[in-house]
Amino acid sequence: KILILDFGSQYTQLIGRRVRELNIYCEIHPFNHFPAIDETVKGVILSGSPSSVRDENAPIPDLSAIKGKMPLLGVCYGAQYLAHFFGGEVLPSDSREYGRAHLGYIDQENELFKHLTLNTQVWMSHGDTIERLPENYKVIASTGDVKNAAYKIGGEDTWAIQFHPEVYHTTEGTQLLKNFAVGICGCKQDWTPASFIETTVTQLKEKIGNDKVVLGLSGGVDSTVAGVLLNRAIGDKLTCIFVDNGLLRKNEFEAVLDSYKGMGLNVIGVNAKDRFYKDLAGVTDPEQKRKIIGRDFIEVFDVEAHKIQDVKWLGQGTIYPDVIESVSVNGPSATIKSHHNVGGLPEKMNLKVVEPLNLLFKDEVRRVGKALGIKDELLGRHPFPGPGLGIRILSDVTAEKVRILQEADYIFINGLKEWGLYDDVWQAGVMLLPVQSVGVMGDERTYENVVALRAVMSTDGMTADWVHLPYEFLAKMSNEIINKVRGINRVVYDISSKPPATIEWE
Ligand code: XMP
Repeated sequence: KILILDFGSQYTQLIGRRVRELNIYCEIHPFNHFPAIDETVKGVILSGSPSSVRDENAPIPDLSAIKGKMPLLGVCYGAQYLAHFFGGEVLPSDSREYGRAHLGYIDQENELFKHLTLNTQVWMSHGDTIERLPENYKVIASTGDVKNAAYKIGGEDTWAIQFHPEVYHTTEGTQLLKNFAVGICGCKQDWTPASFIETTVTQLKEKIGNDKVVLGLSGGVDSTVAGVLLNRAIGDKLTCIFVDNGLLRKNEFEAVLDSYKGMGLNVIGVNAKDRFYKDLAGVTDPEQKRKIIGRDFIEVFDVEAHKIQDVKWLGQGTIYPDVIESVSVNGPSATIKSHHNVGGLPEKMNLKVVEPLNLLFKDEVRRVGKALGIKDELLGRHPFPGPGLGIRILSDVTAEKVRILQEADYIFINGLKEWGLYDDVWQAGVMLLPVQSVGVMGDERTYENVVALRAVMSTDGMTADWVHLPYEFLAKMSNEIINKVRGINRVVYDISSKPPATIEWE
């Protein structure tokens, strides 16, 4: 495997994904908190950082078990670190070096640049520049503005590059990473969905033995793939629980329950709608709603799980981005993200936790799901928030409002599918606004609700752009919703990006 030491750059996870795309396993760890280096580690990559090597508390790793002992690649901050603290000099650059650049000089003899073309485009993003290299460091690539764009340290397997090979705009970045990981480190490209499934199933069998496991399914990609994987390993020792909180999409509960049963999963569907509606009655504060929905889910799940005798494990669909320890660049300590799919469950249930996907990125979860034979229809689903329609009904939640919103949402989502737009959109939904407006229907004056349609593009939900859906499509949706859904007489389209808006309205 390849180890990636994180210095806090926004691109660190991307390095990991690029290495994984080469079918090579890698792990990301904080620069100051990484596991012991054993023979499974074939090479190390140092990531970029928002810090400068000239900062008083610049992140400084302990590379004593690594540098000079195995292949090492410094990227951006990593490159500046290996120059500045080993006798070279890094200075603020006159102009921030940002954006596309071209490698006008490449040492094509160098293994790192095998198959790269002269003048290849690279992506720069740094405020400092490596002014002077230590002795025994050799420049192996330059751009017009940046002489020391890449170097190799003489007598050891250490390379460094100032640009970002992981970013899309570095057109031959994947080849460069392949040169490092395969050519230099000698990694085999055998980490595939099939091999992941094989080793994971074996490990799960060993770990769980004859114990029973309970898992909450949500209809989403992660919990589904986790369920099918666990089912492969332990069969009917796995019981899945799927709770209808009354805040799902129209027909969702029945449809998803059916497809789960079709996959051979042992699923208990629990209709708990009334309980959620009762507890949400009159509550308008979004955070309060989230708390109630989360708490009710845990309680309903707990009651169901207790009906299974001797259950020992709680399965969860946690994925890698949720468990990567994040680097705190302002201090030496690393903090662990507290986010979990179903926060609070493990604490409440006193079960051991098993998370078969906690080493996978989202796109890998989909690939594994495909290799497990799960239908594209399920794997390609848009993300849907845990609190569901509860946070898409602005103001208090009632069964009647849920019904209205489900109808409008059904028309919109089906419309996206029929028009071939569903897969071009990362997430879509409808918000029921606490606004009534005047309309006319025949000779009558109406006074009914407004809904807002929302469709965004994103990669991880952290930032998002509204999608420029065709006017004809929006016109059709508006007509259909107003004509078919009693209680709605006005439709608007949300054209706000995140930031500063958020994807959900609550
Ligand atoms: P925002 O609205 O913060 O949403 O831009 C970003 C992504 O997170 C989802 N989301 C949630 N998911 N529980 C969840 O499981 C929540 O309370 C929650 N709030 C927002 C949202 O749907 C989007 O994908």
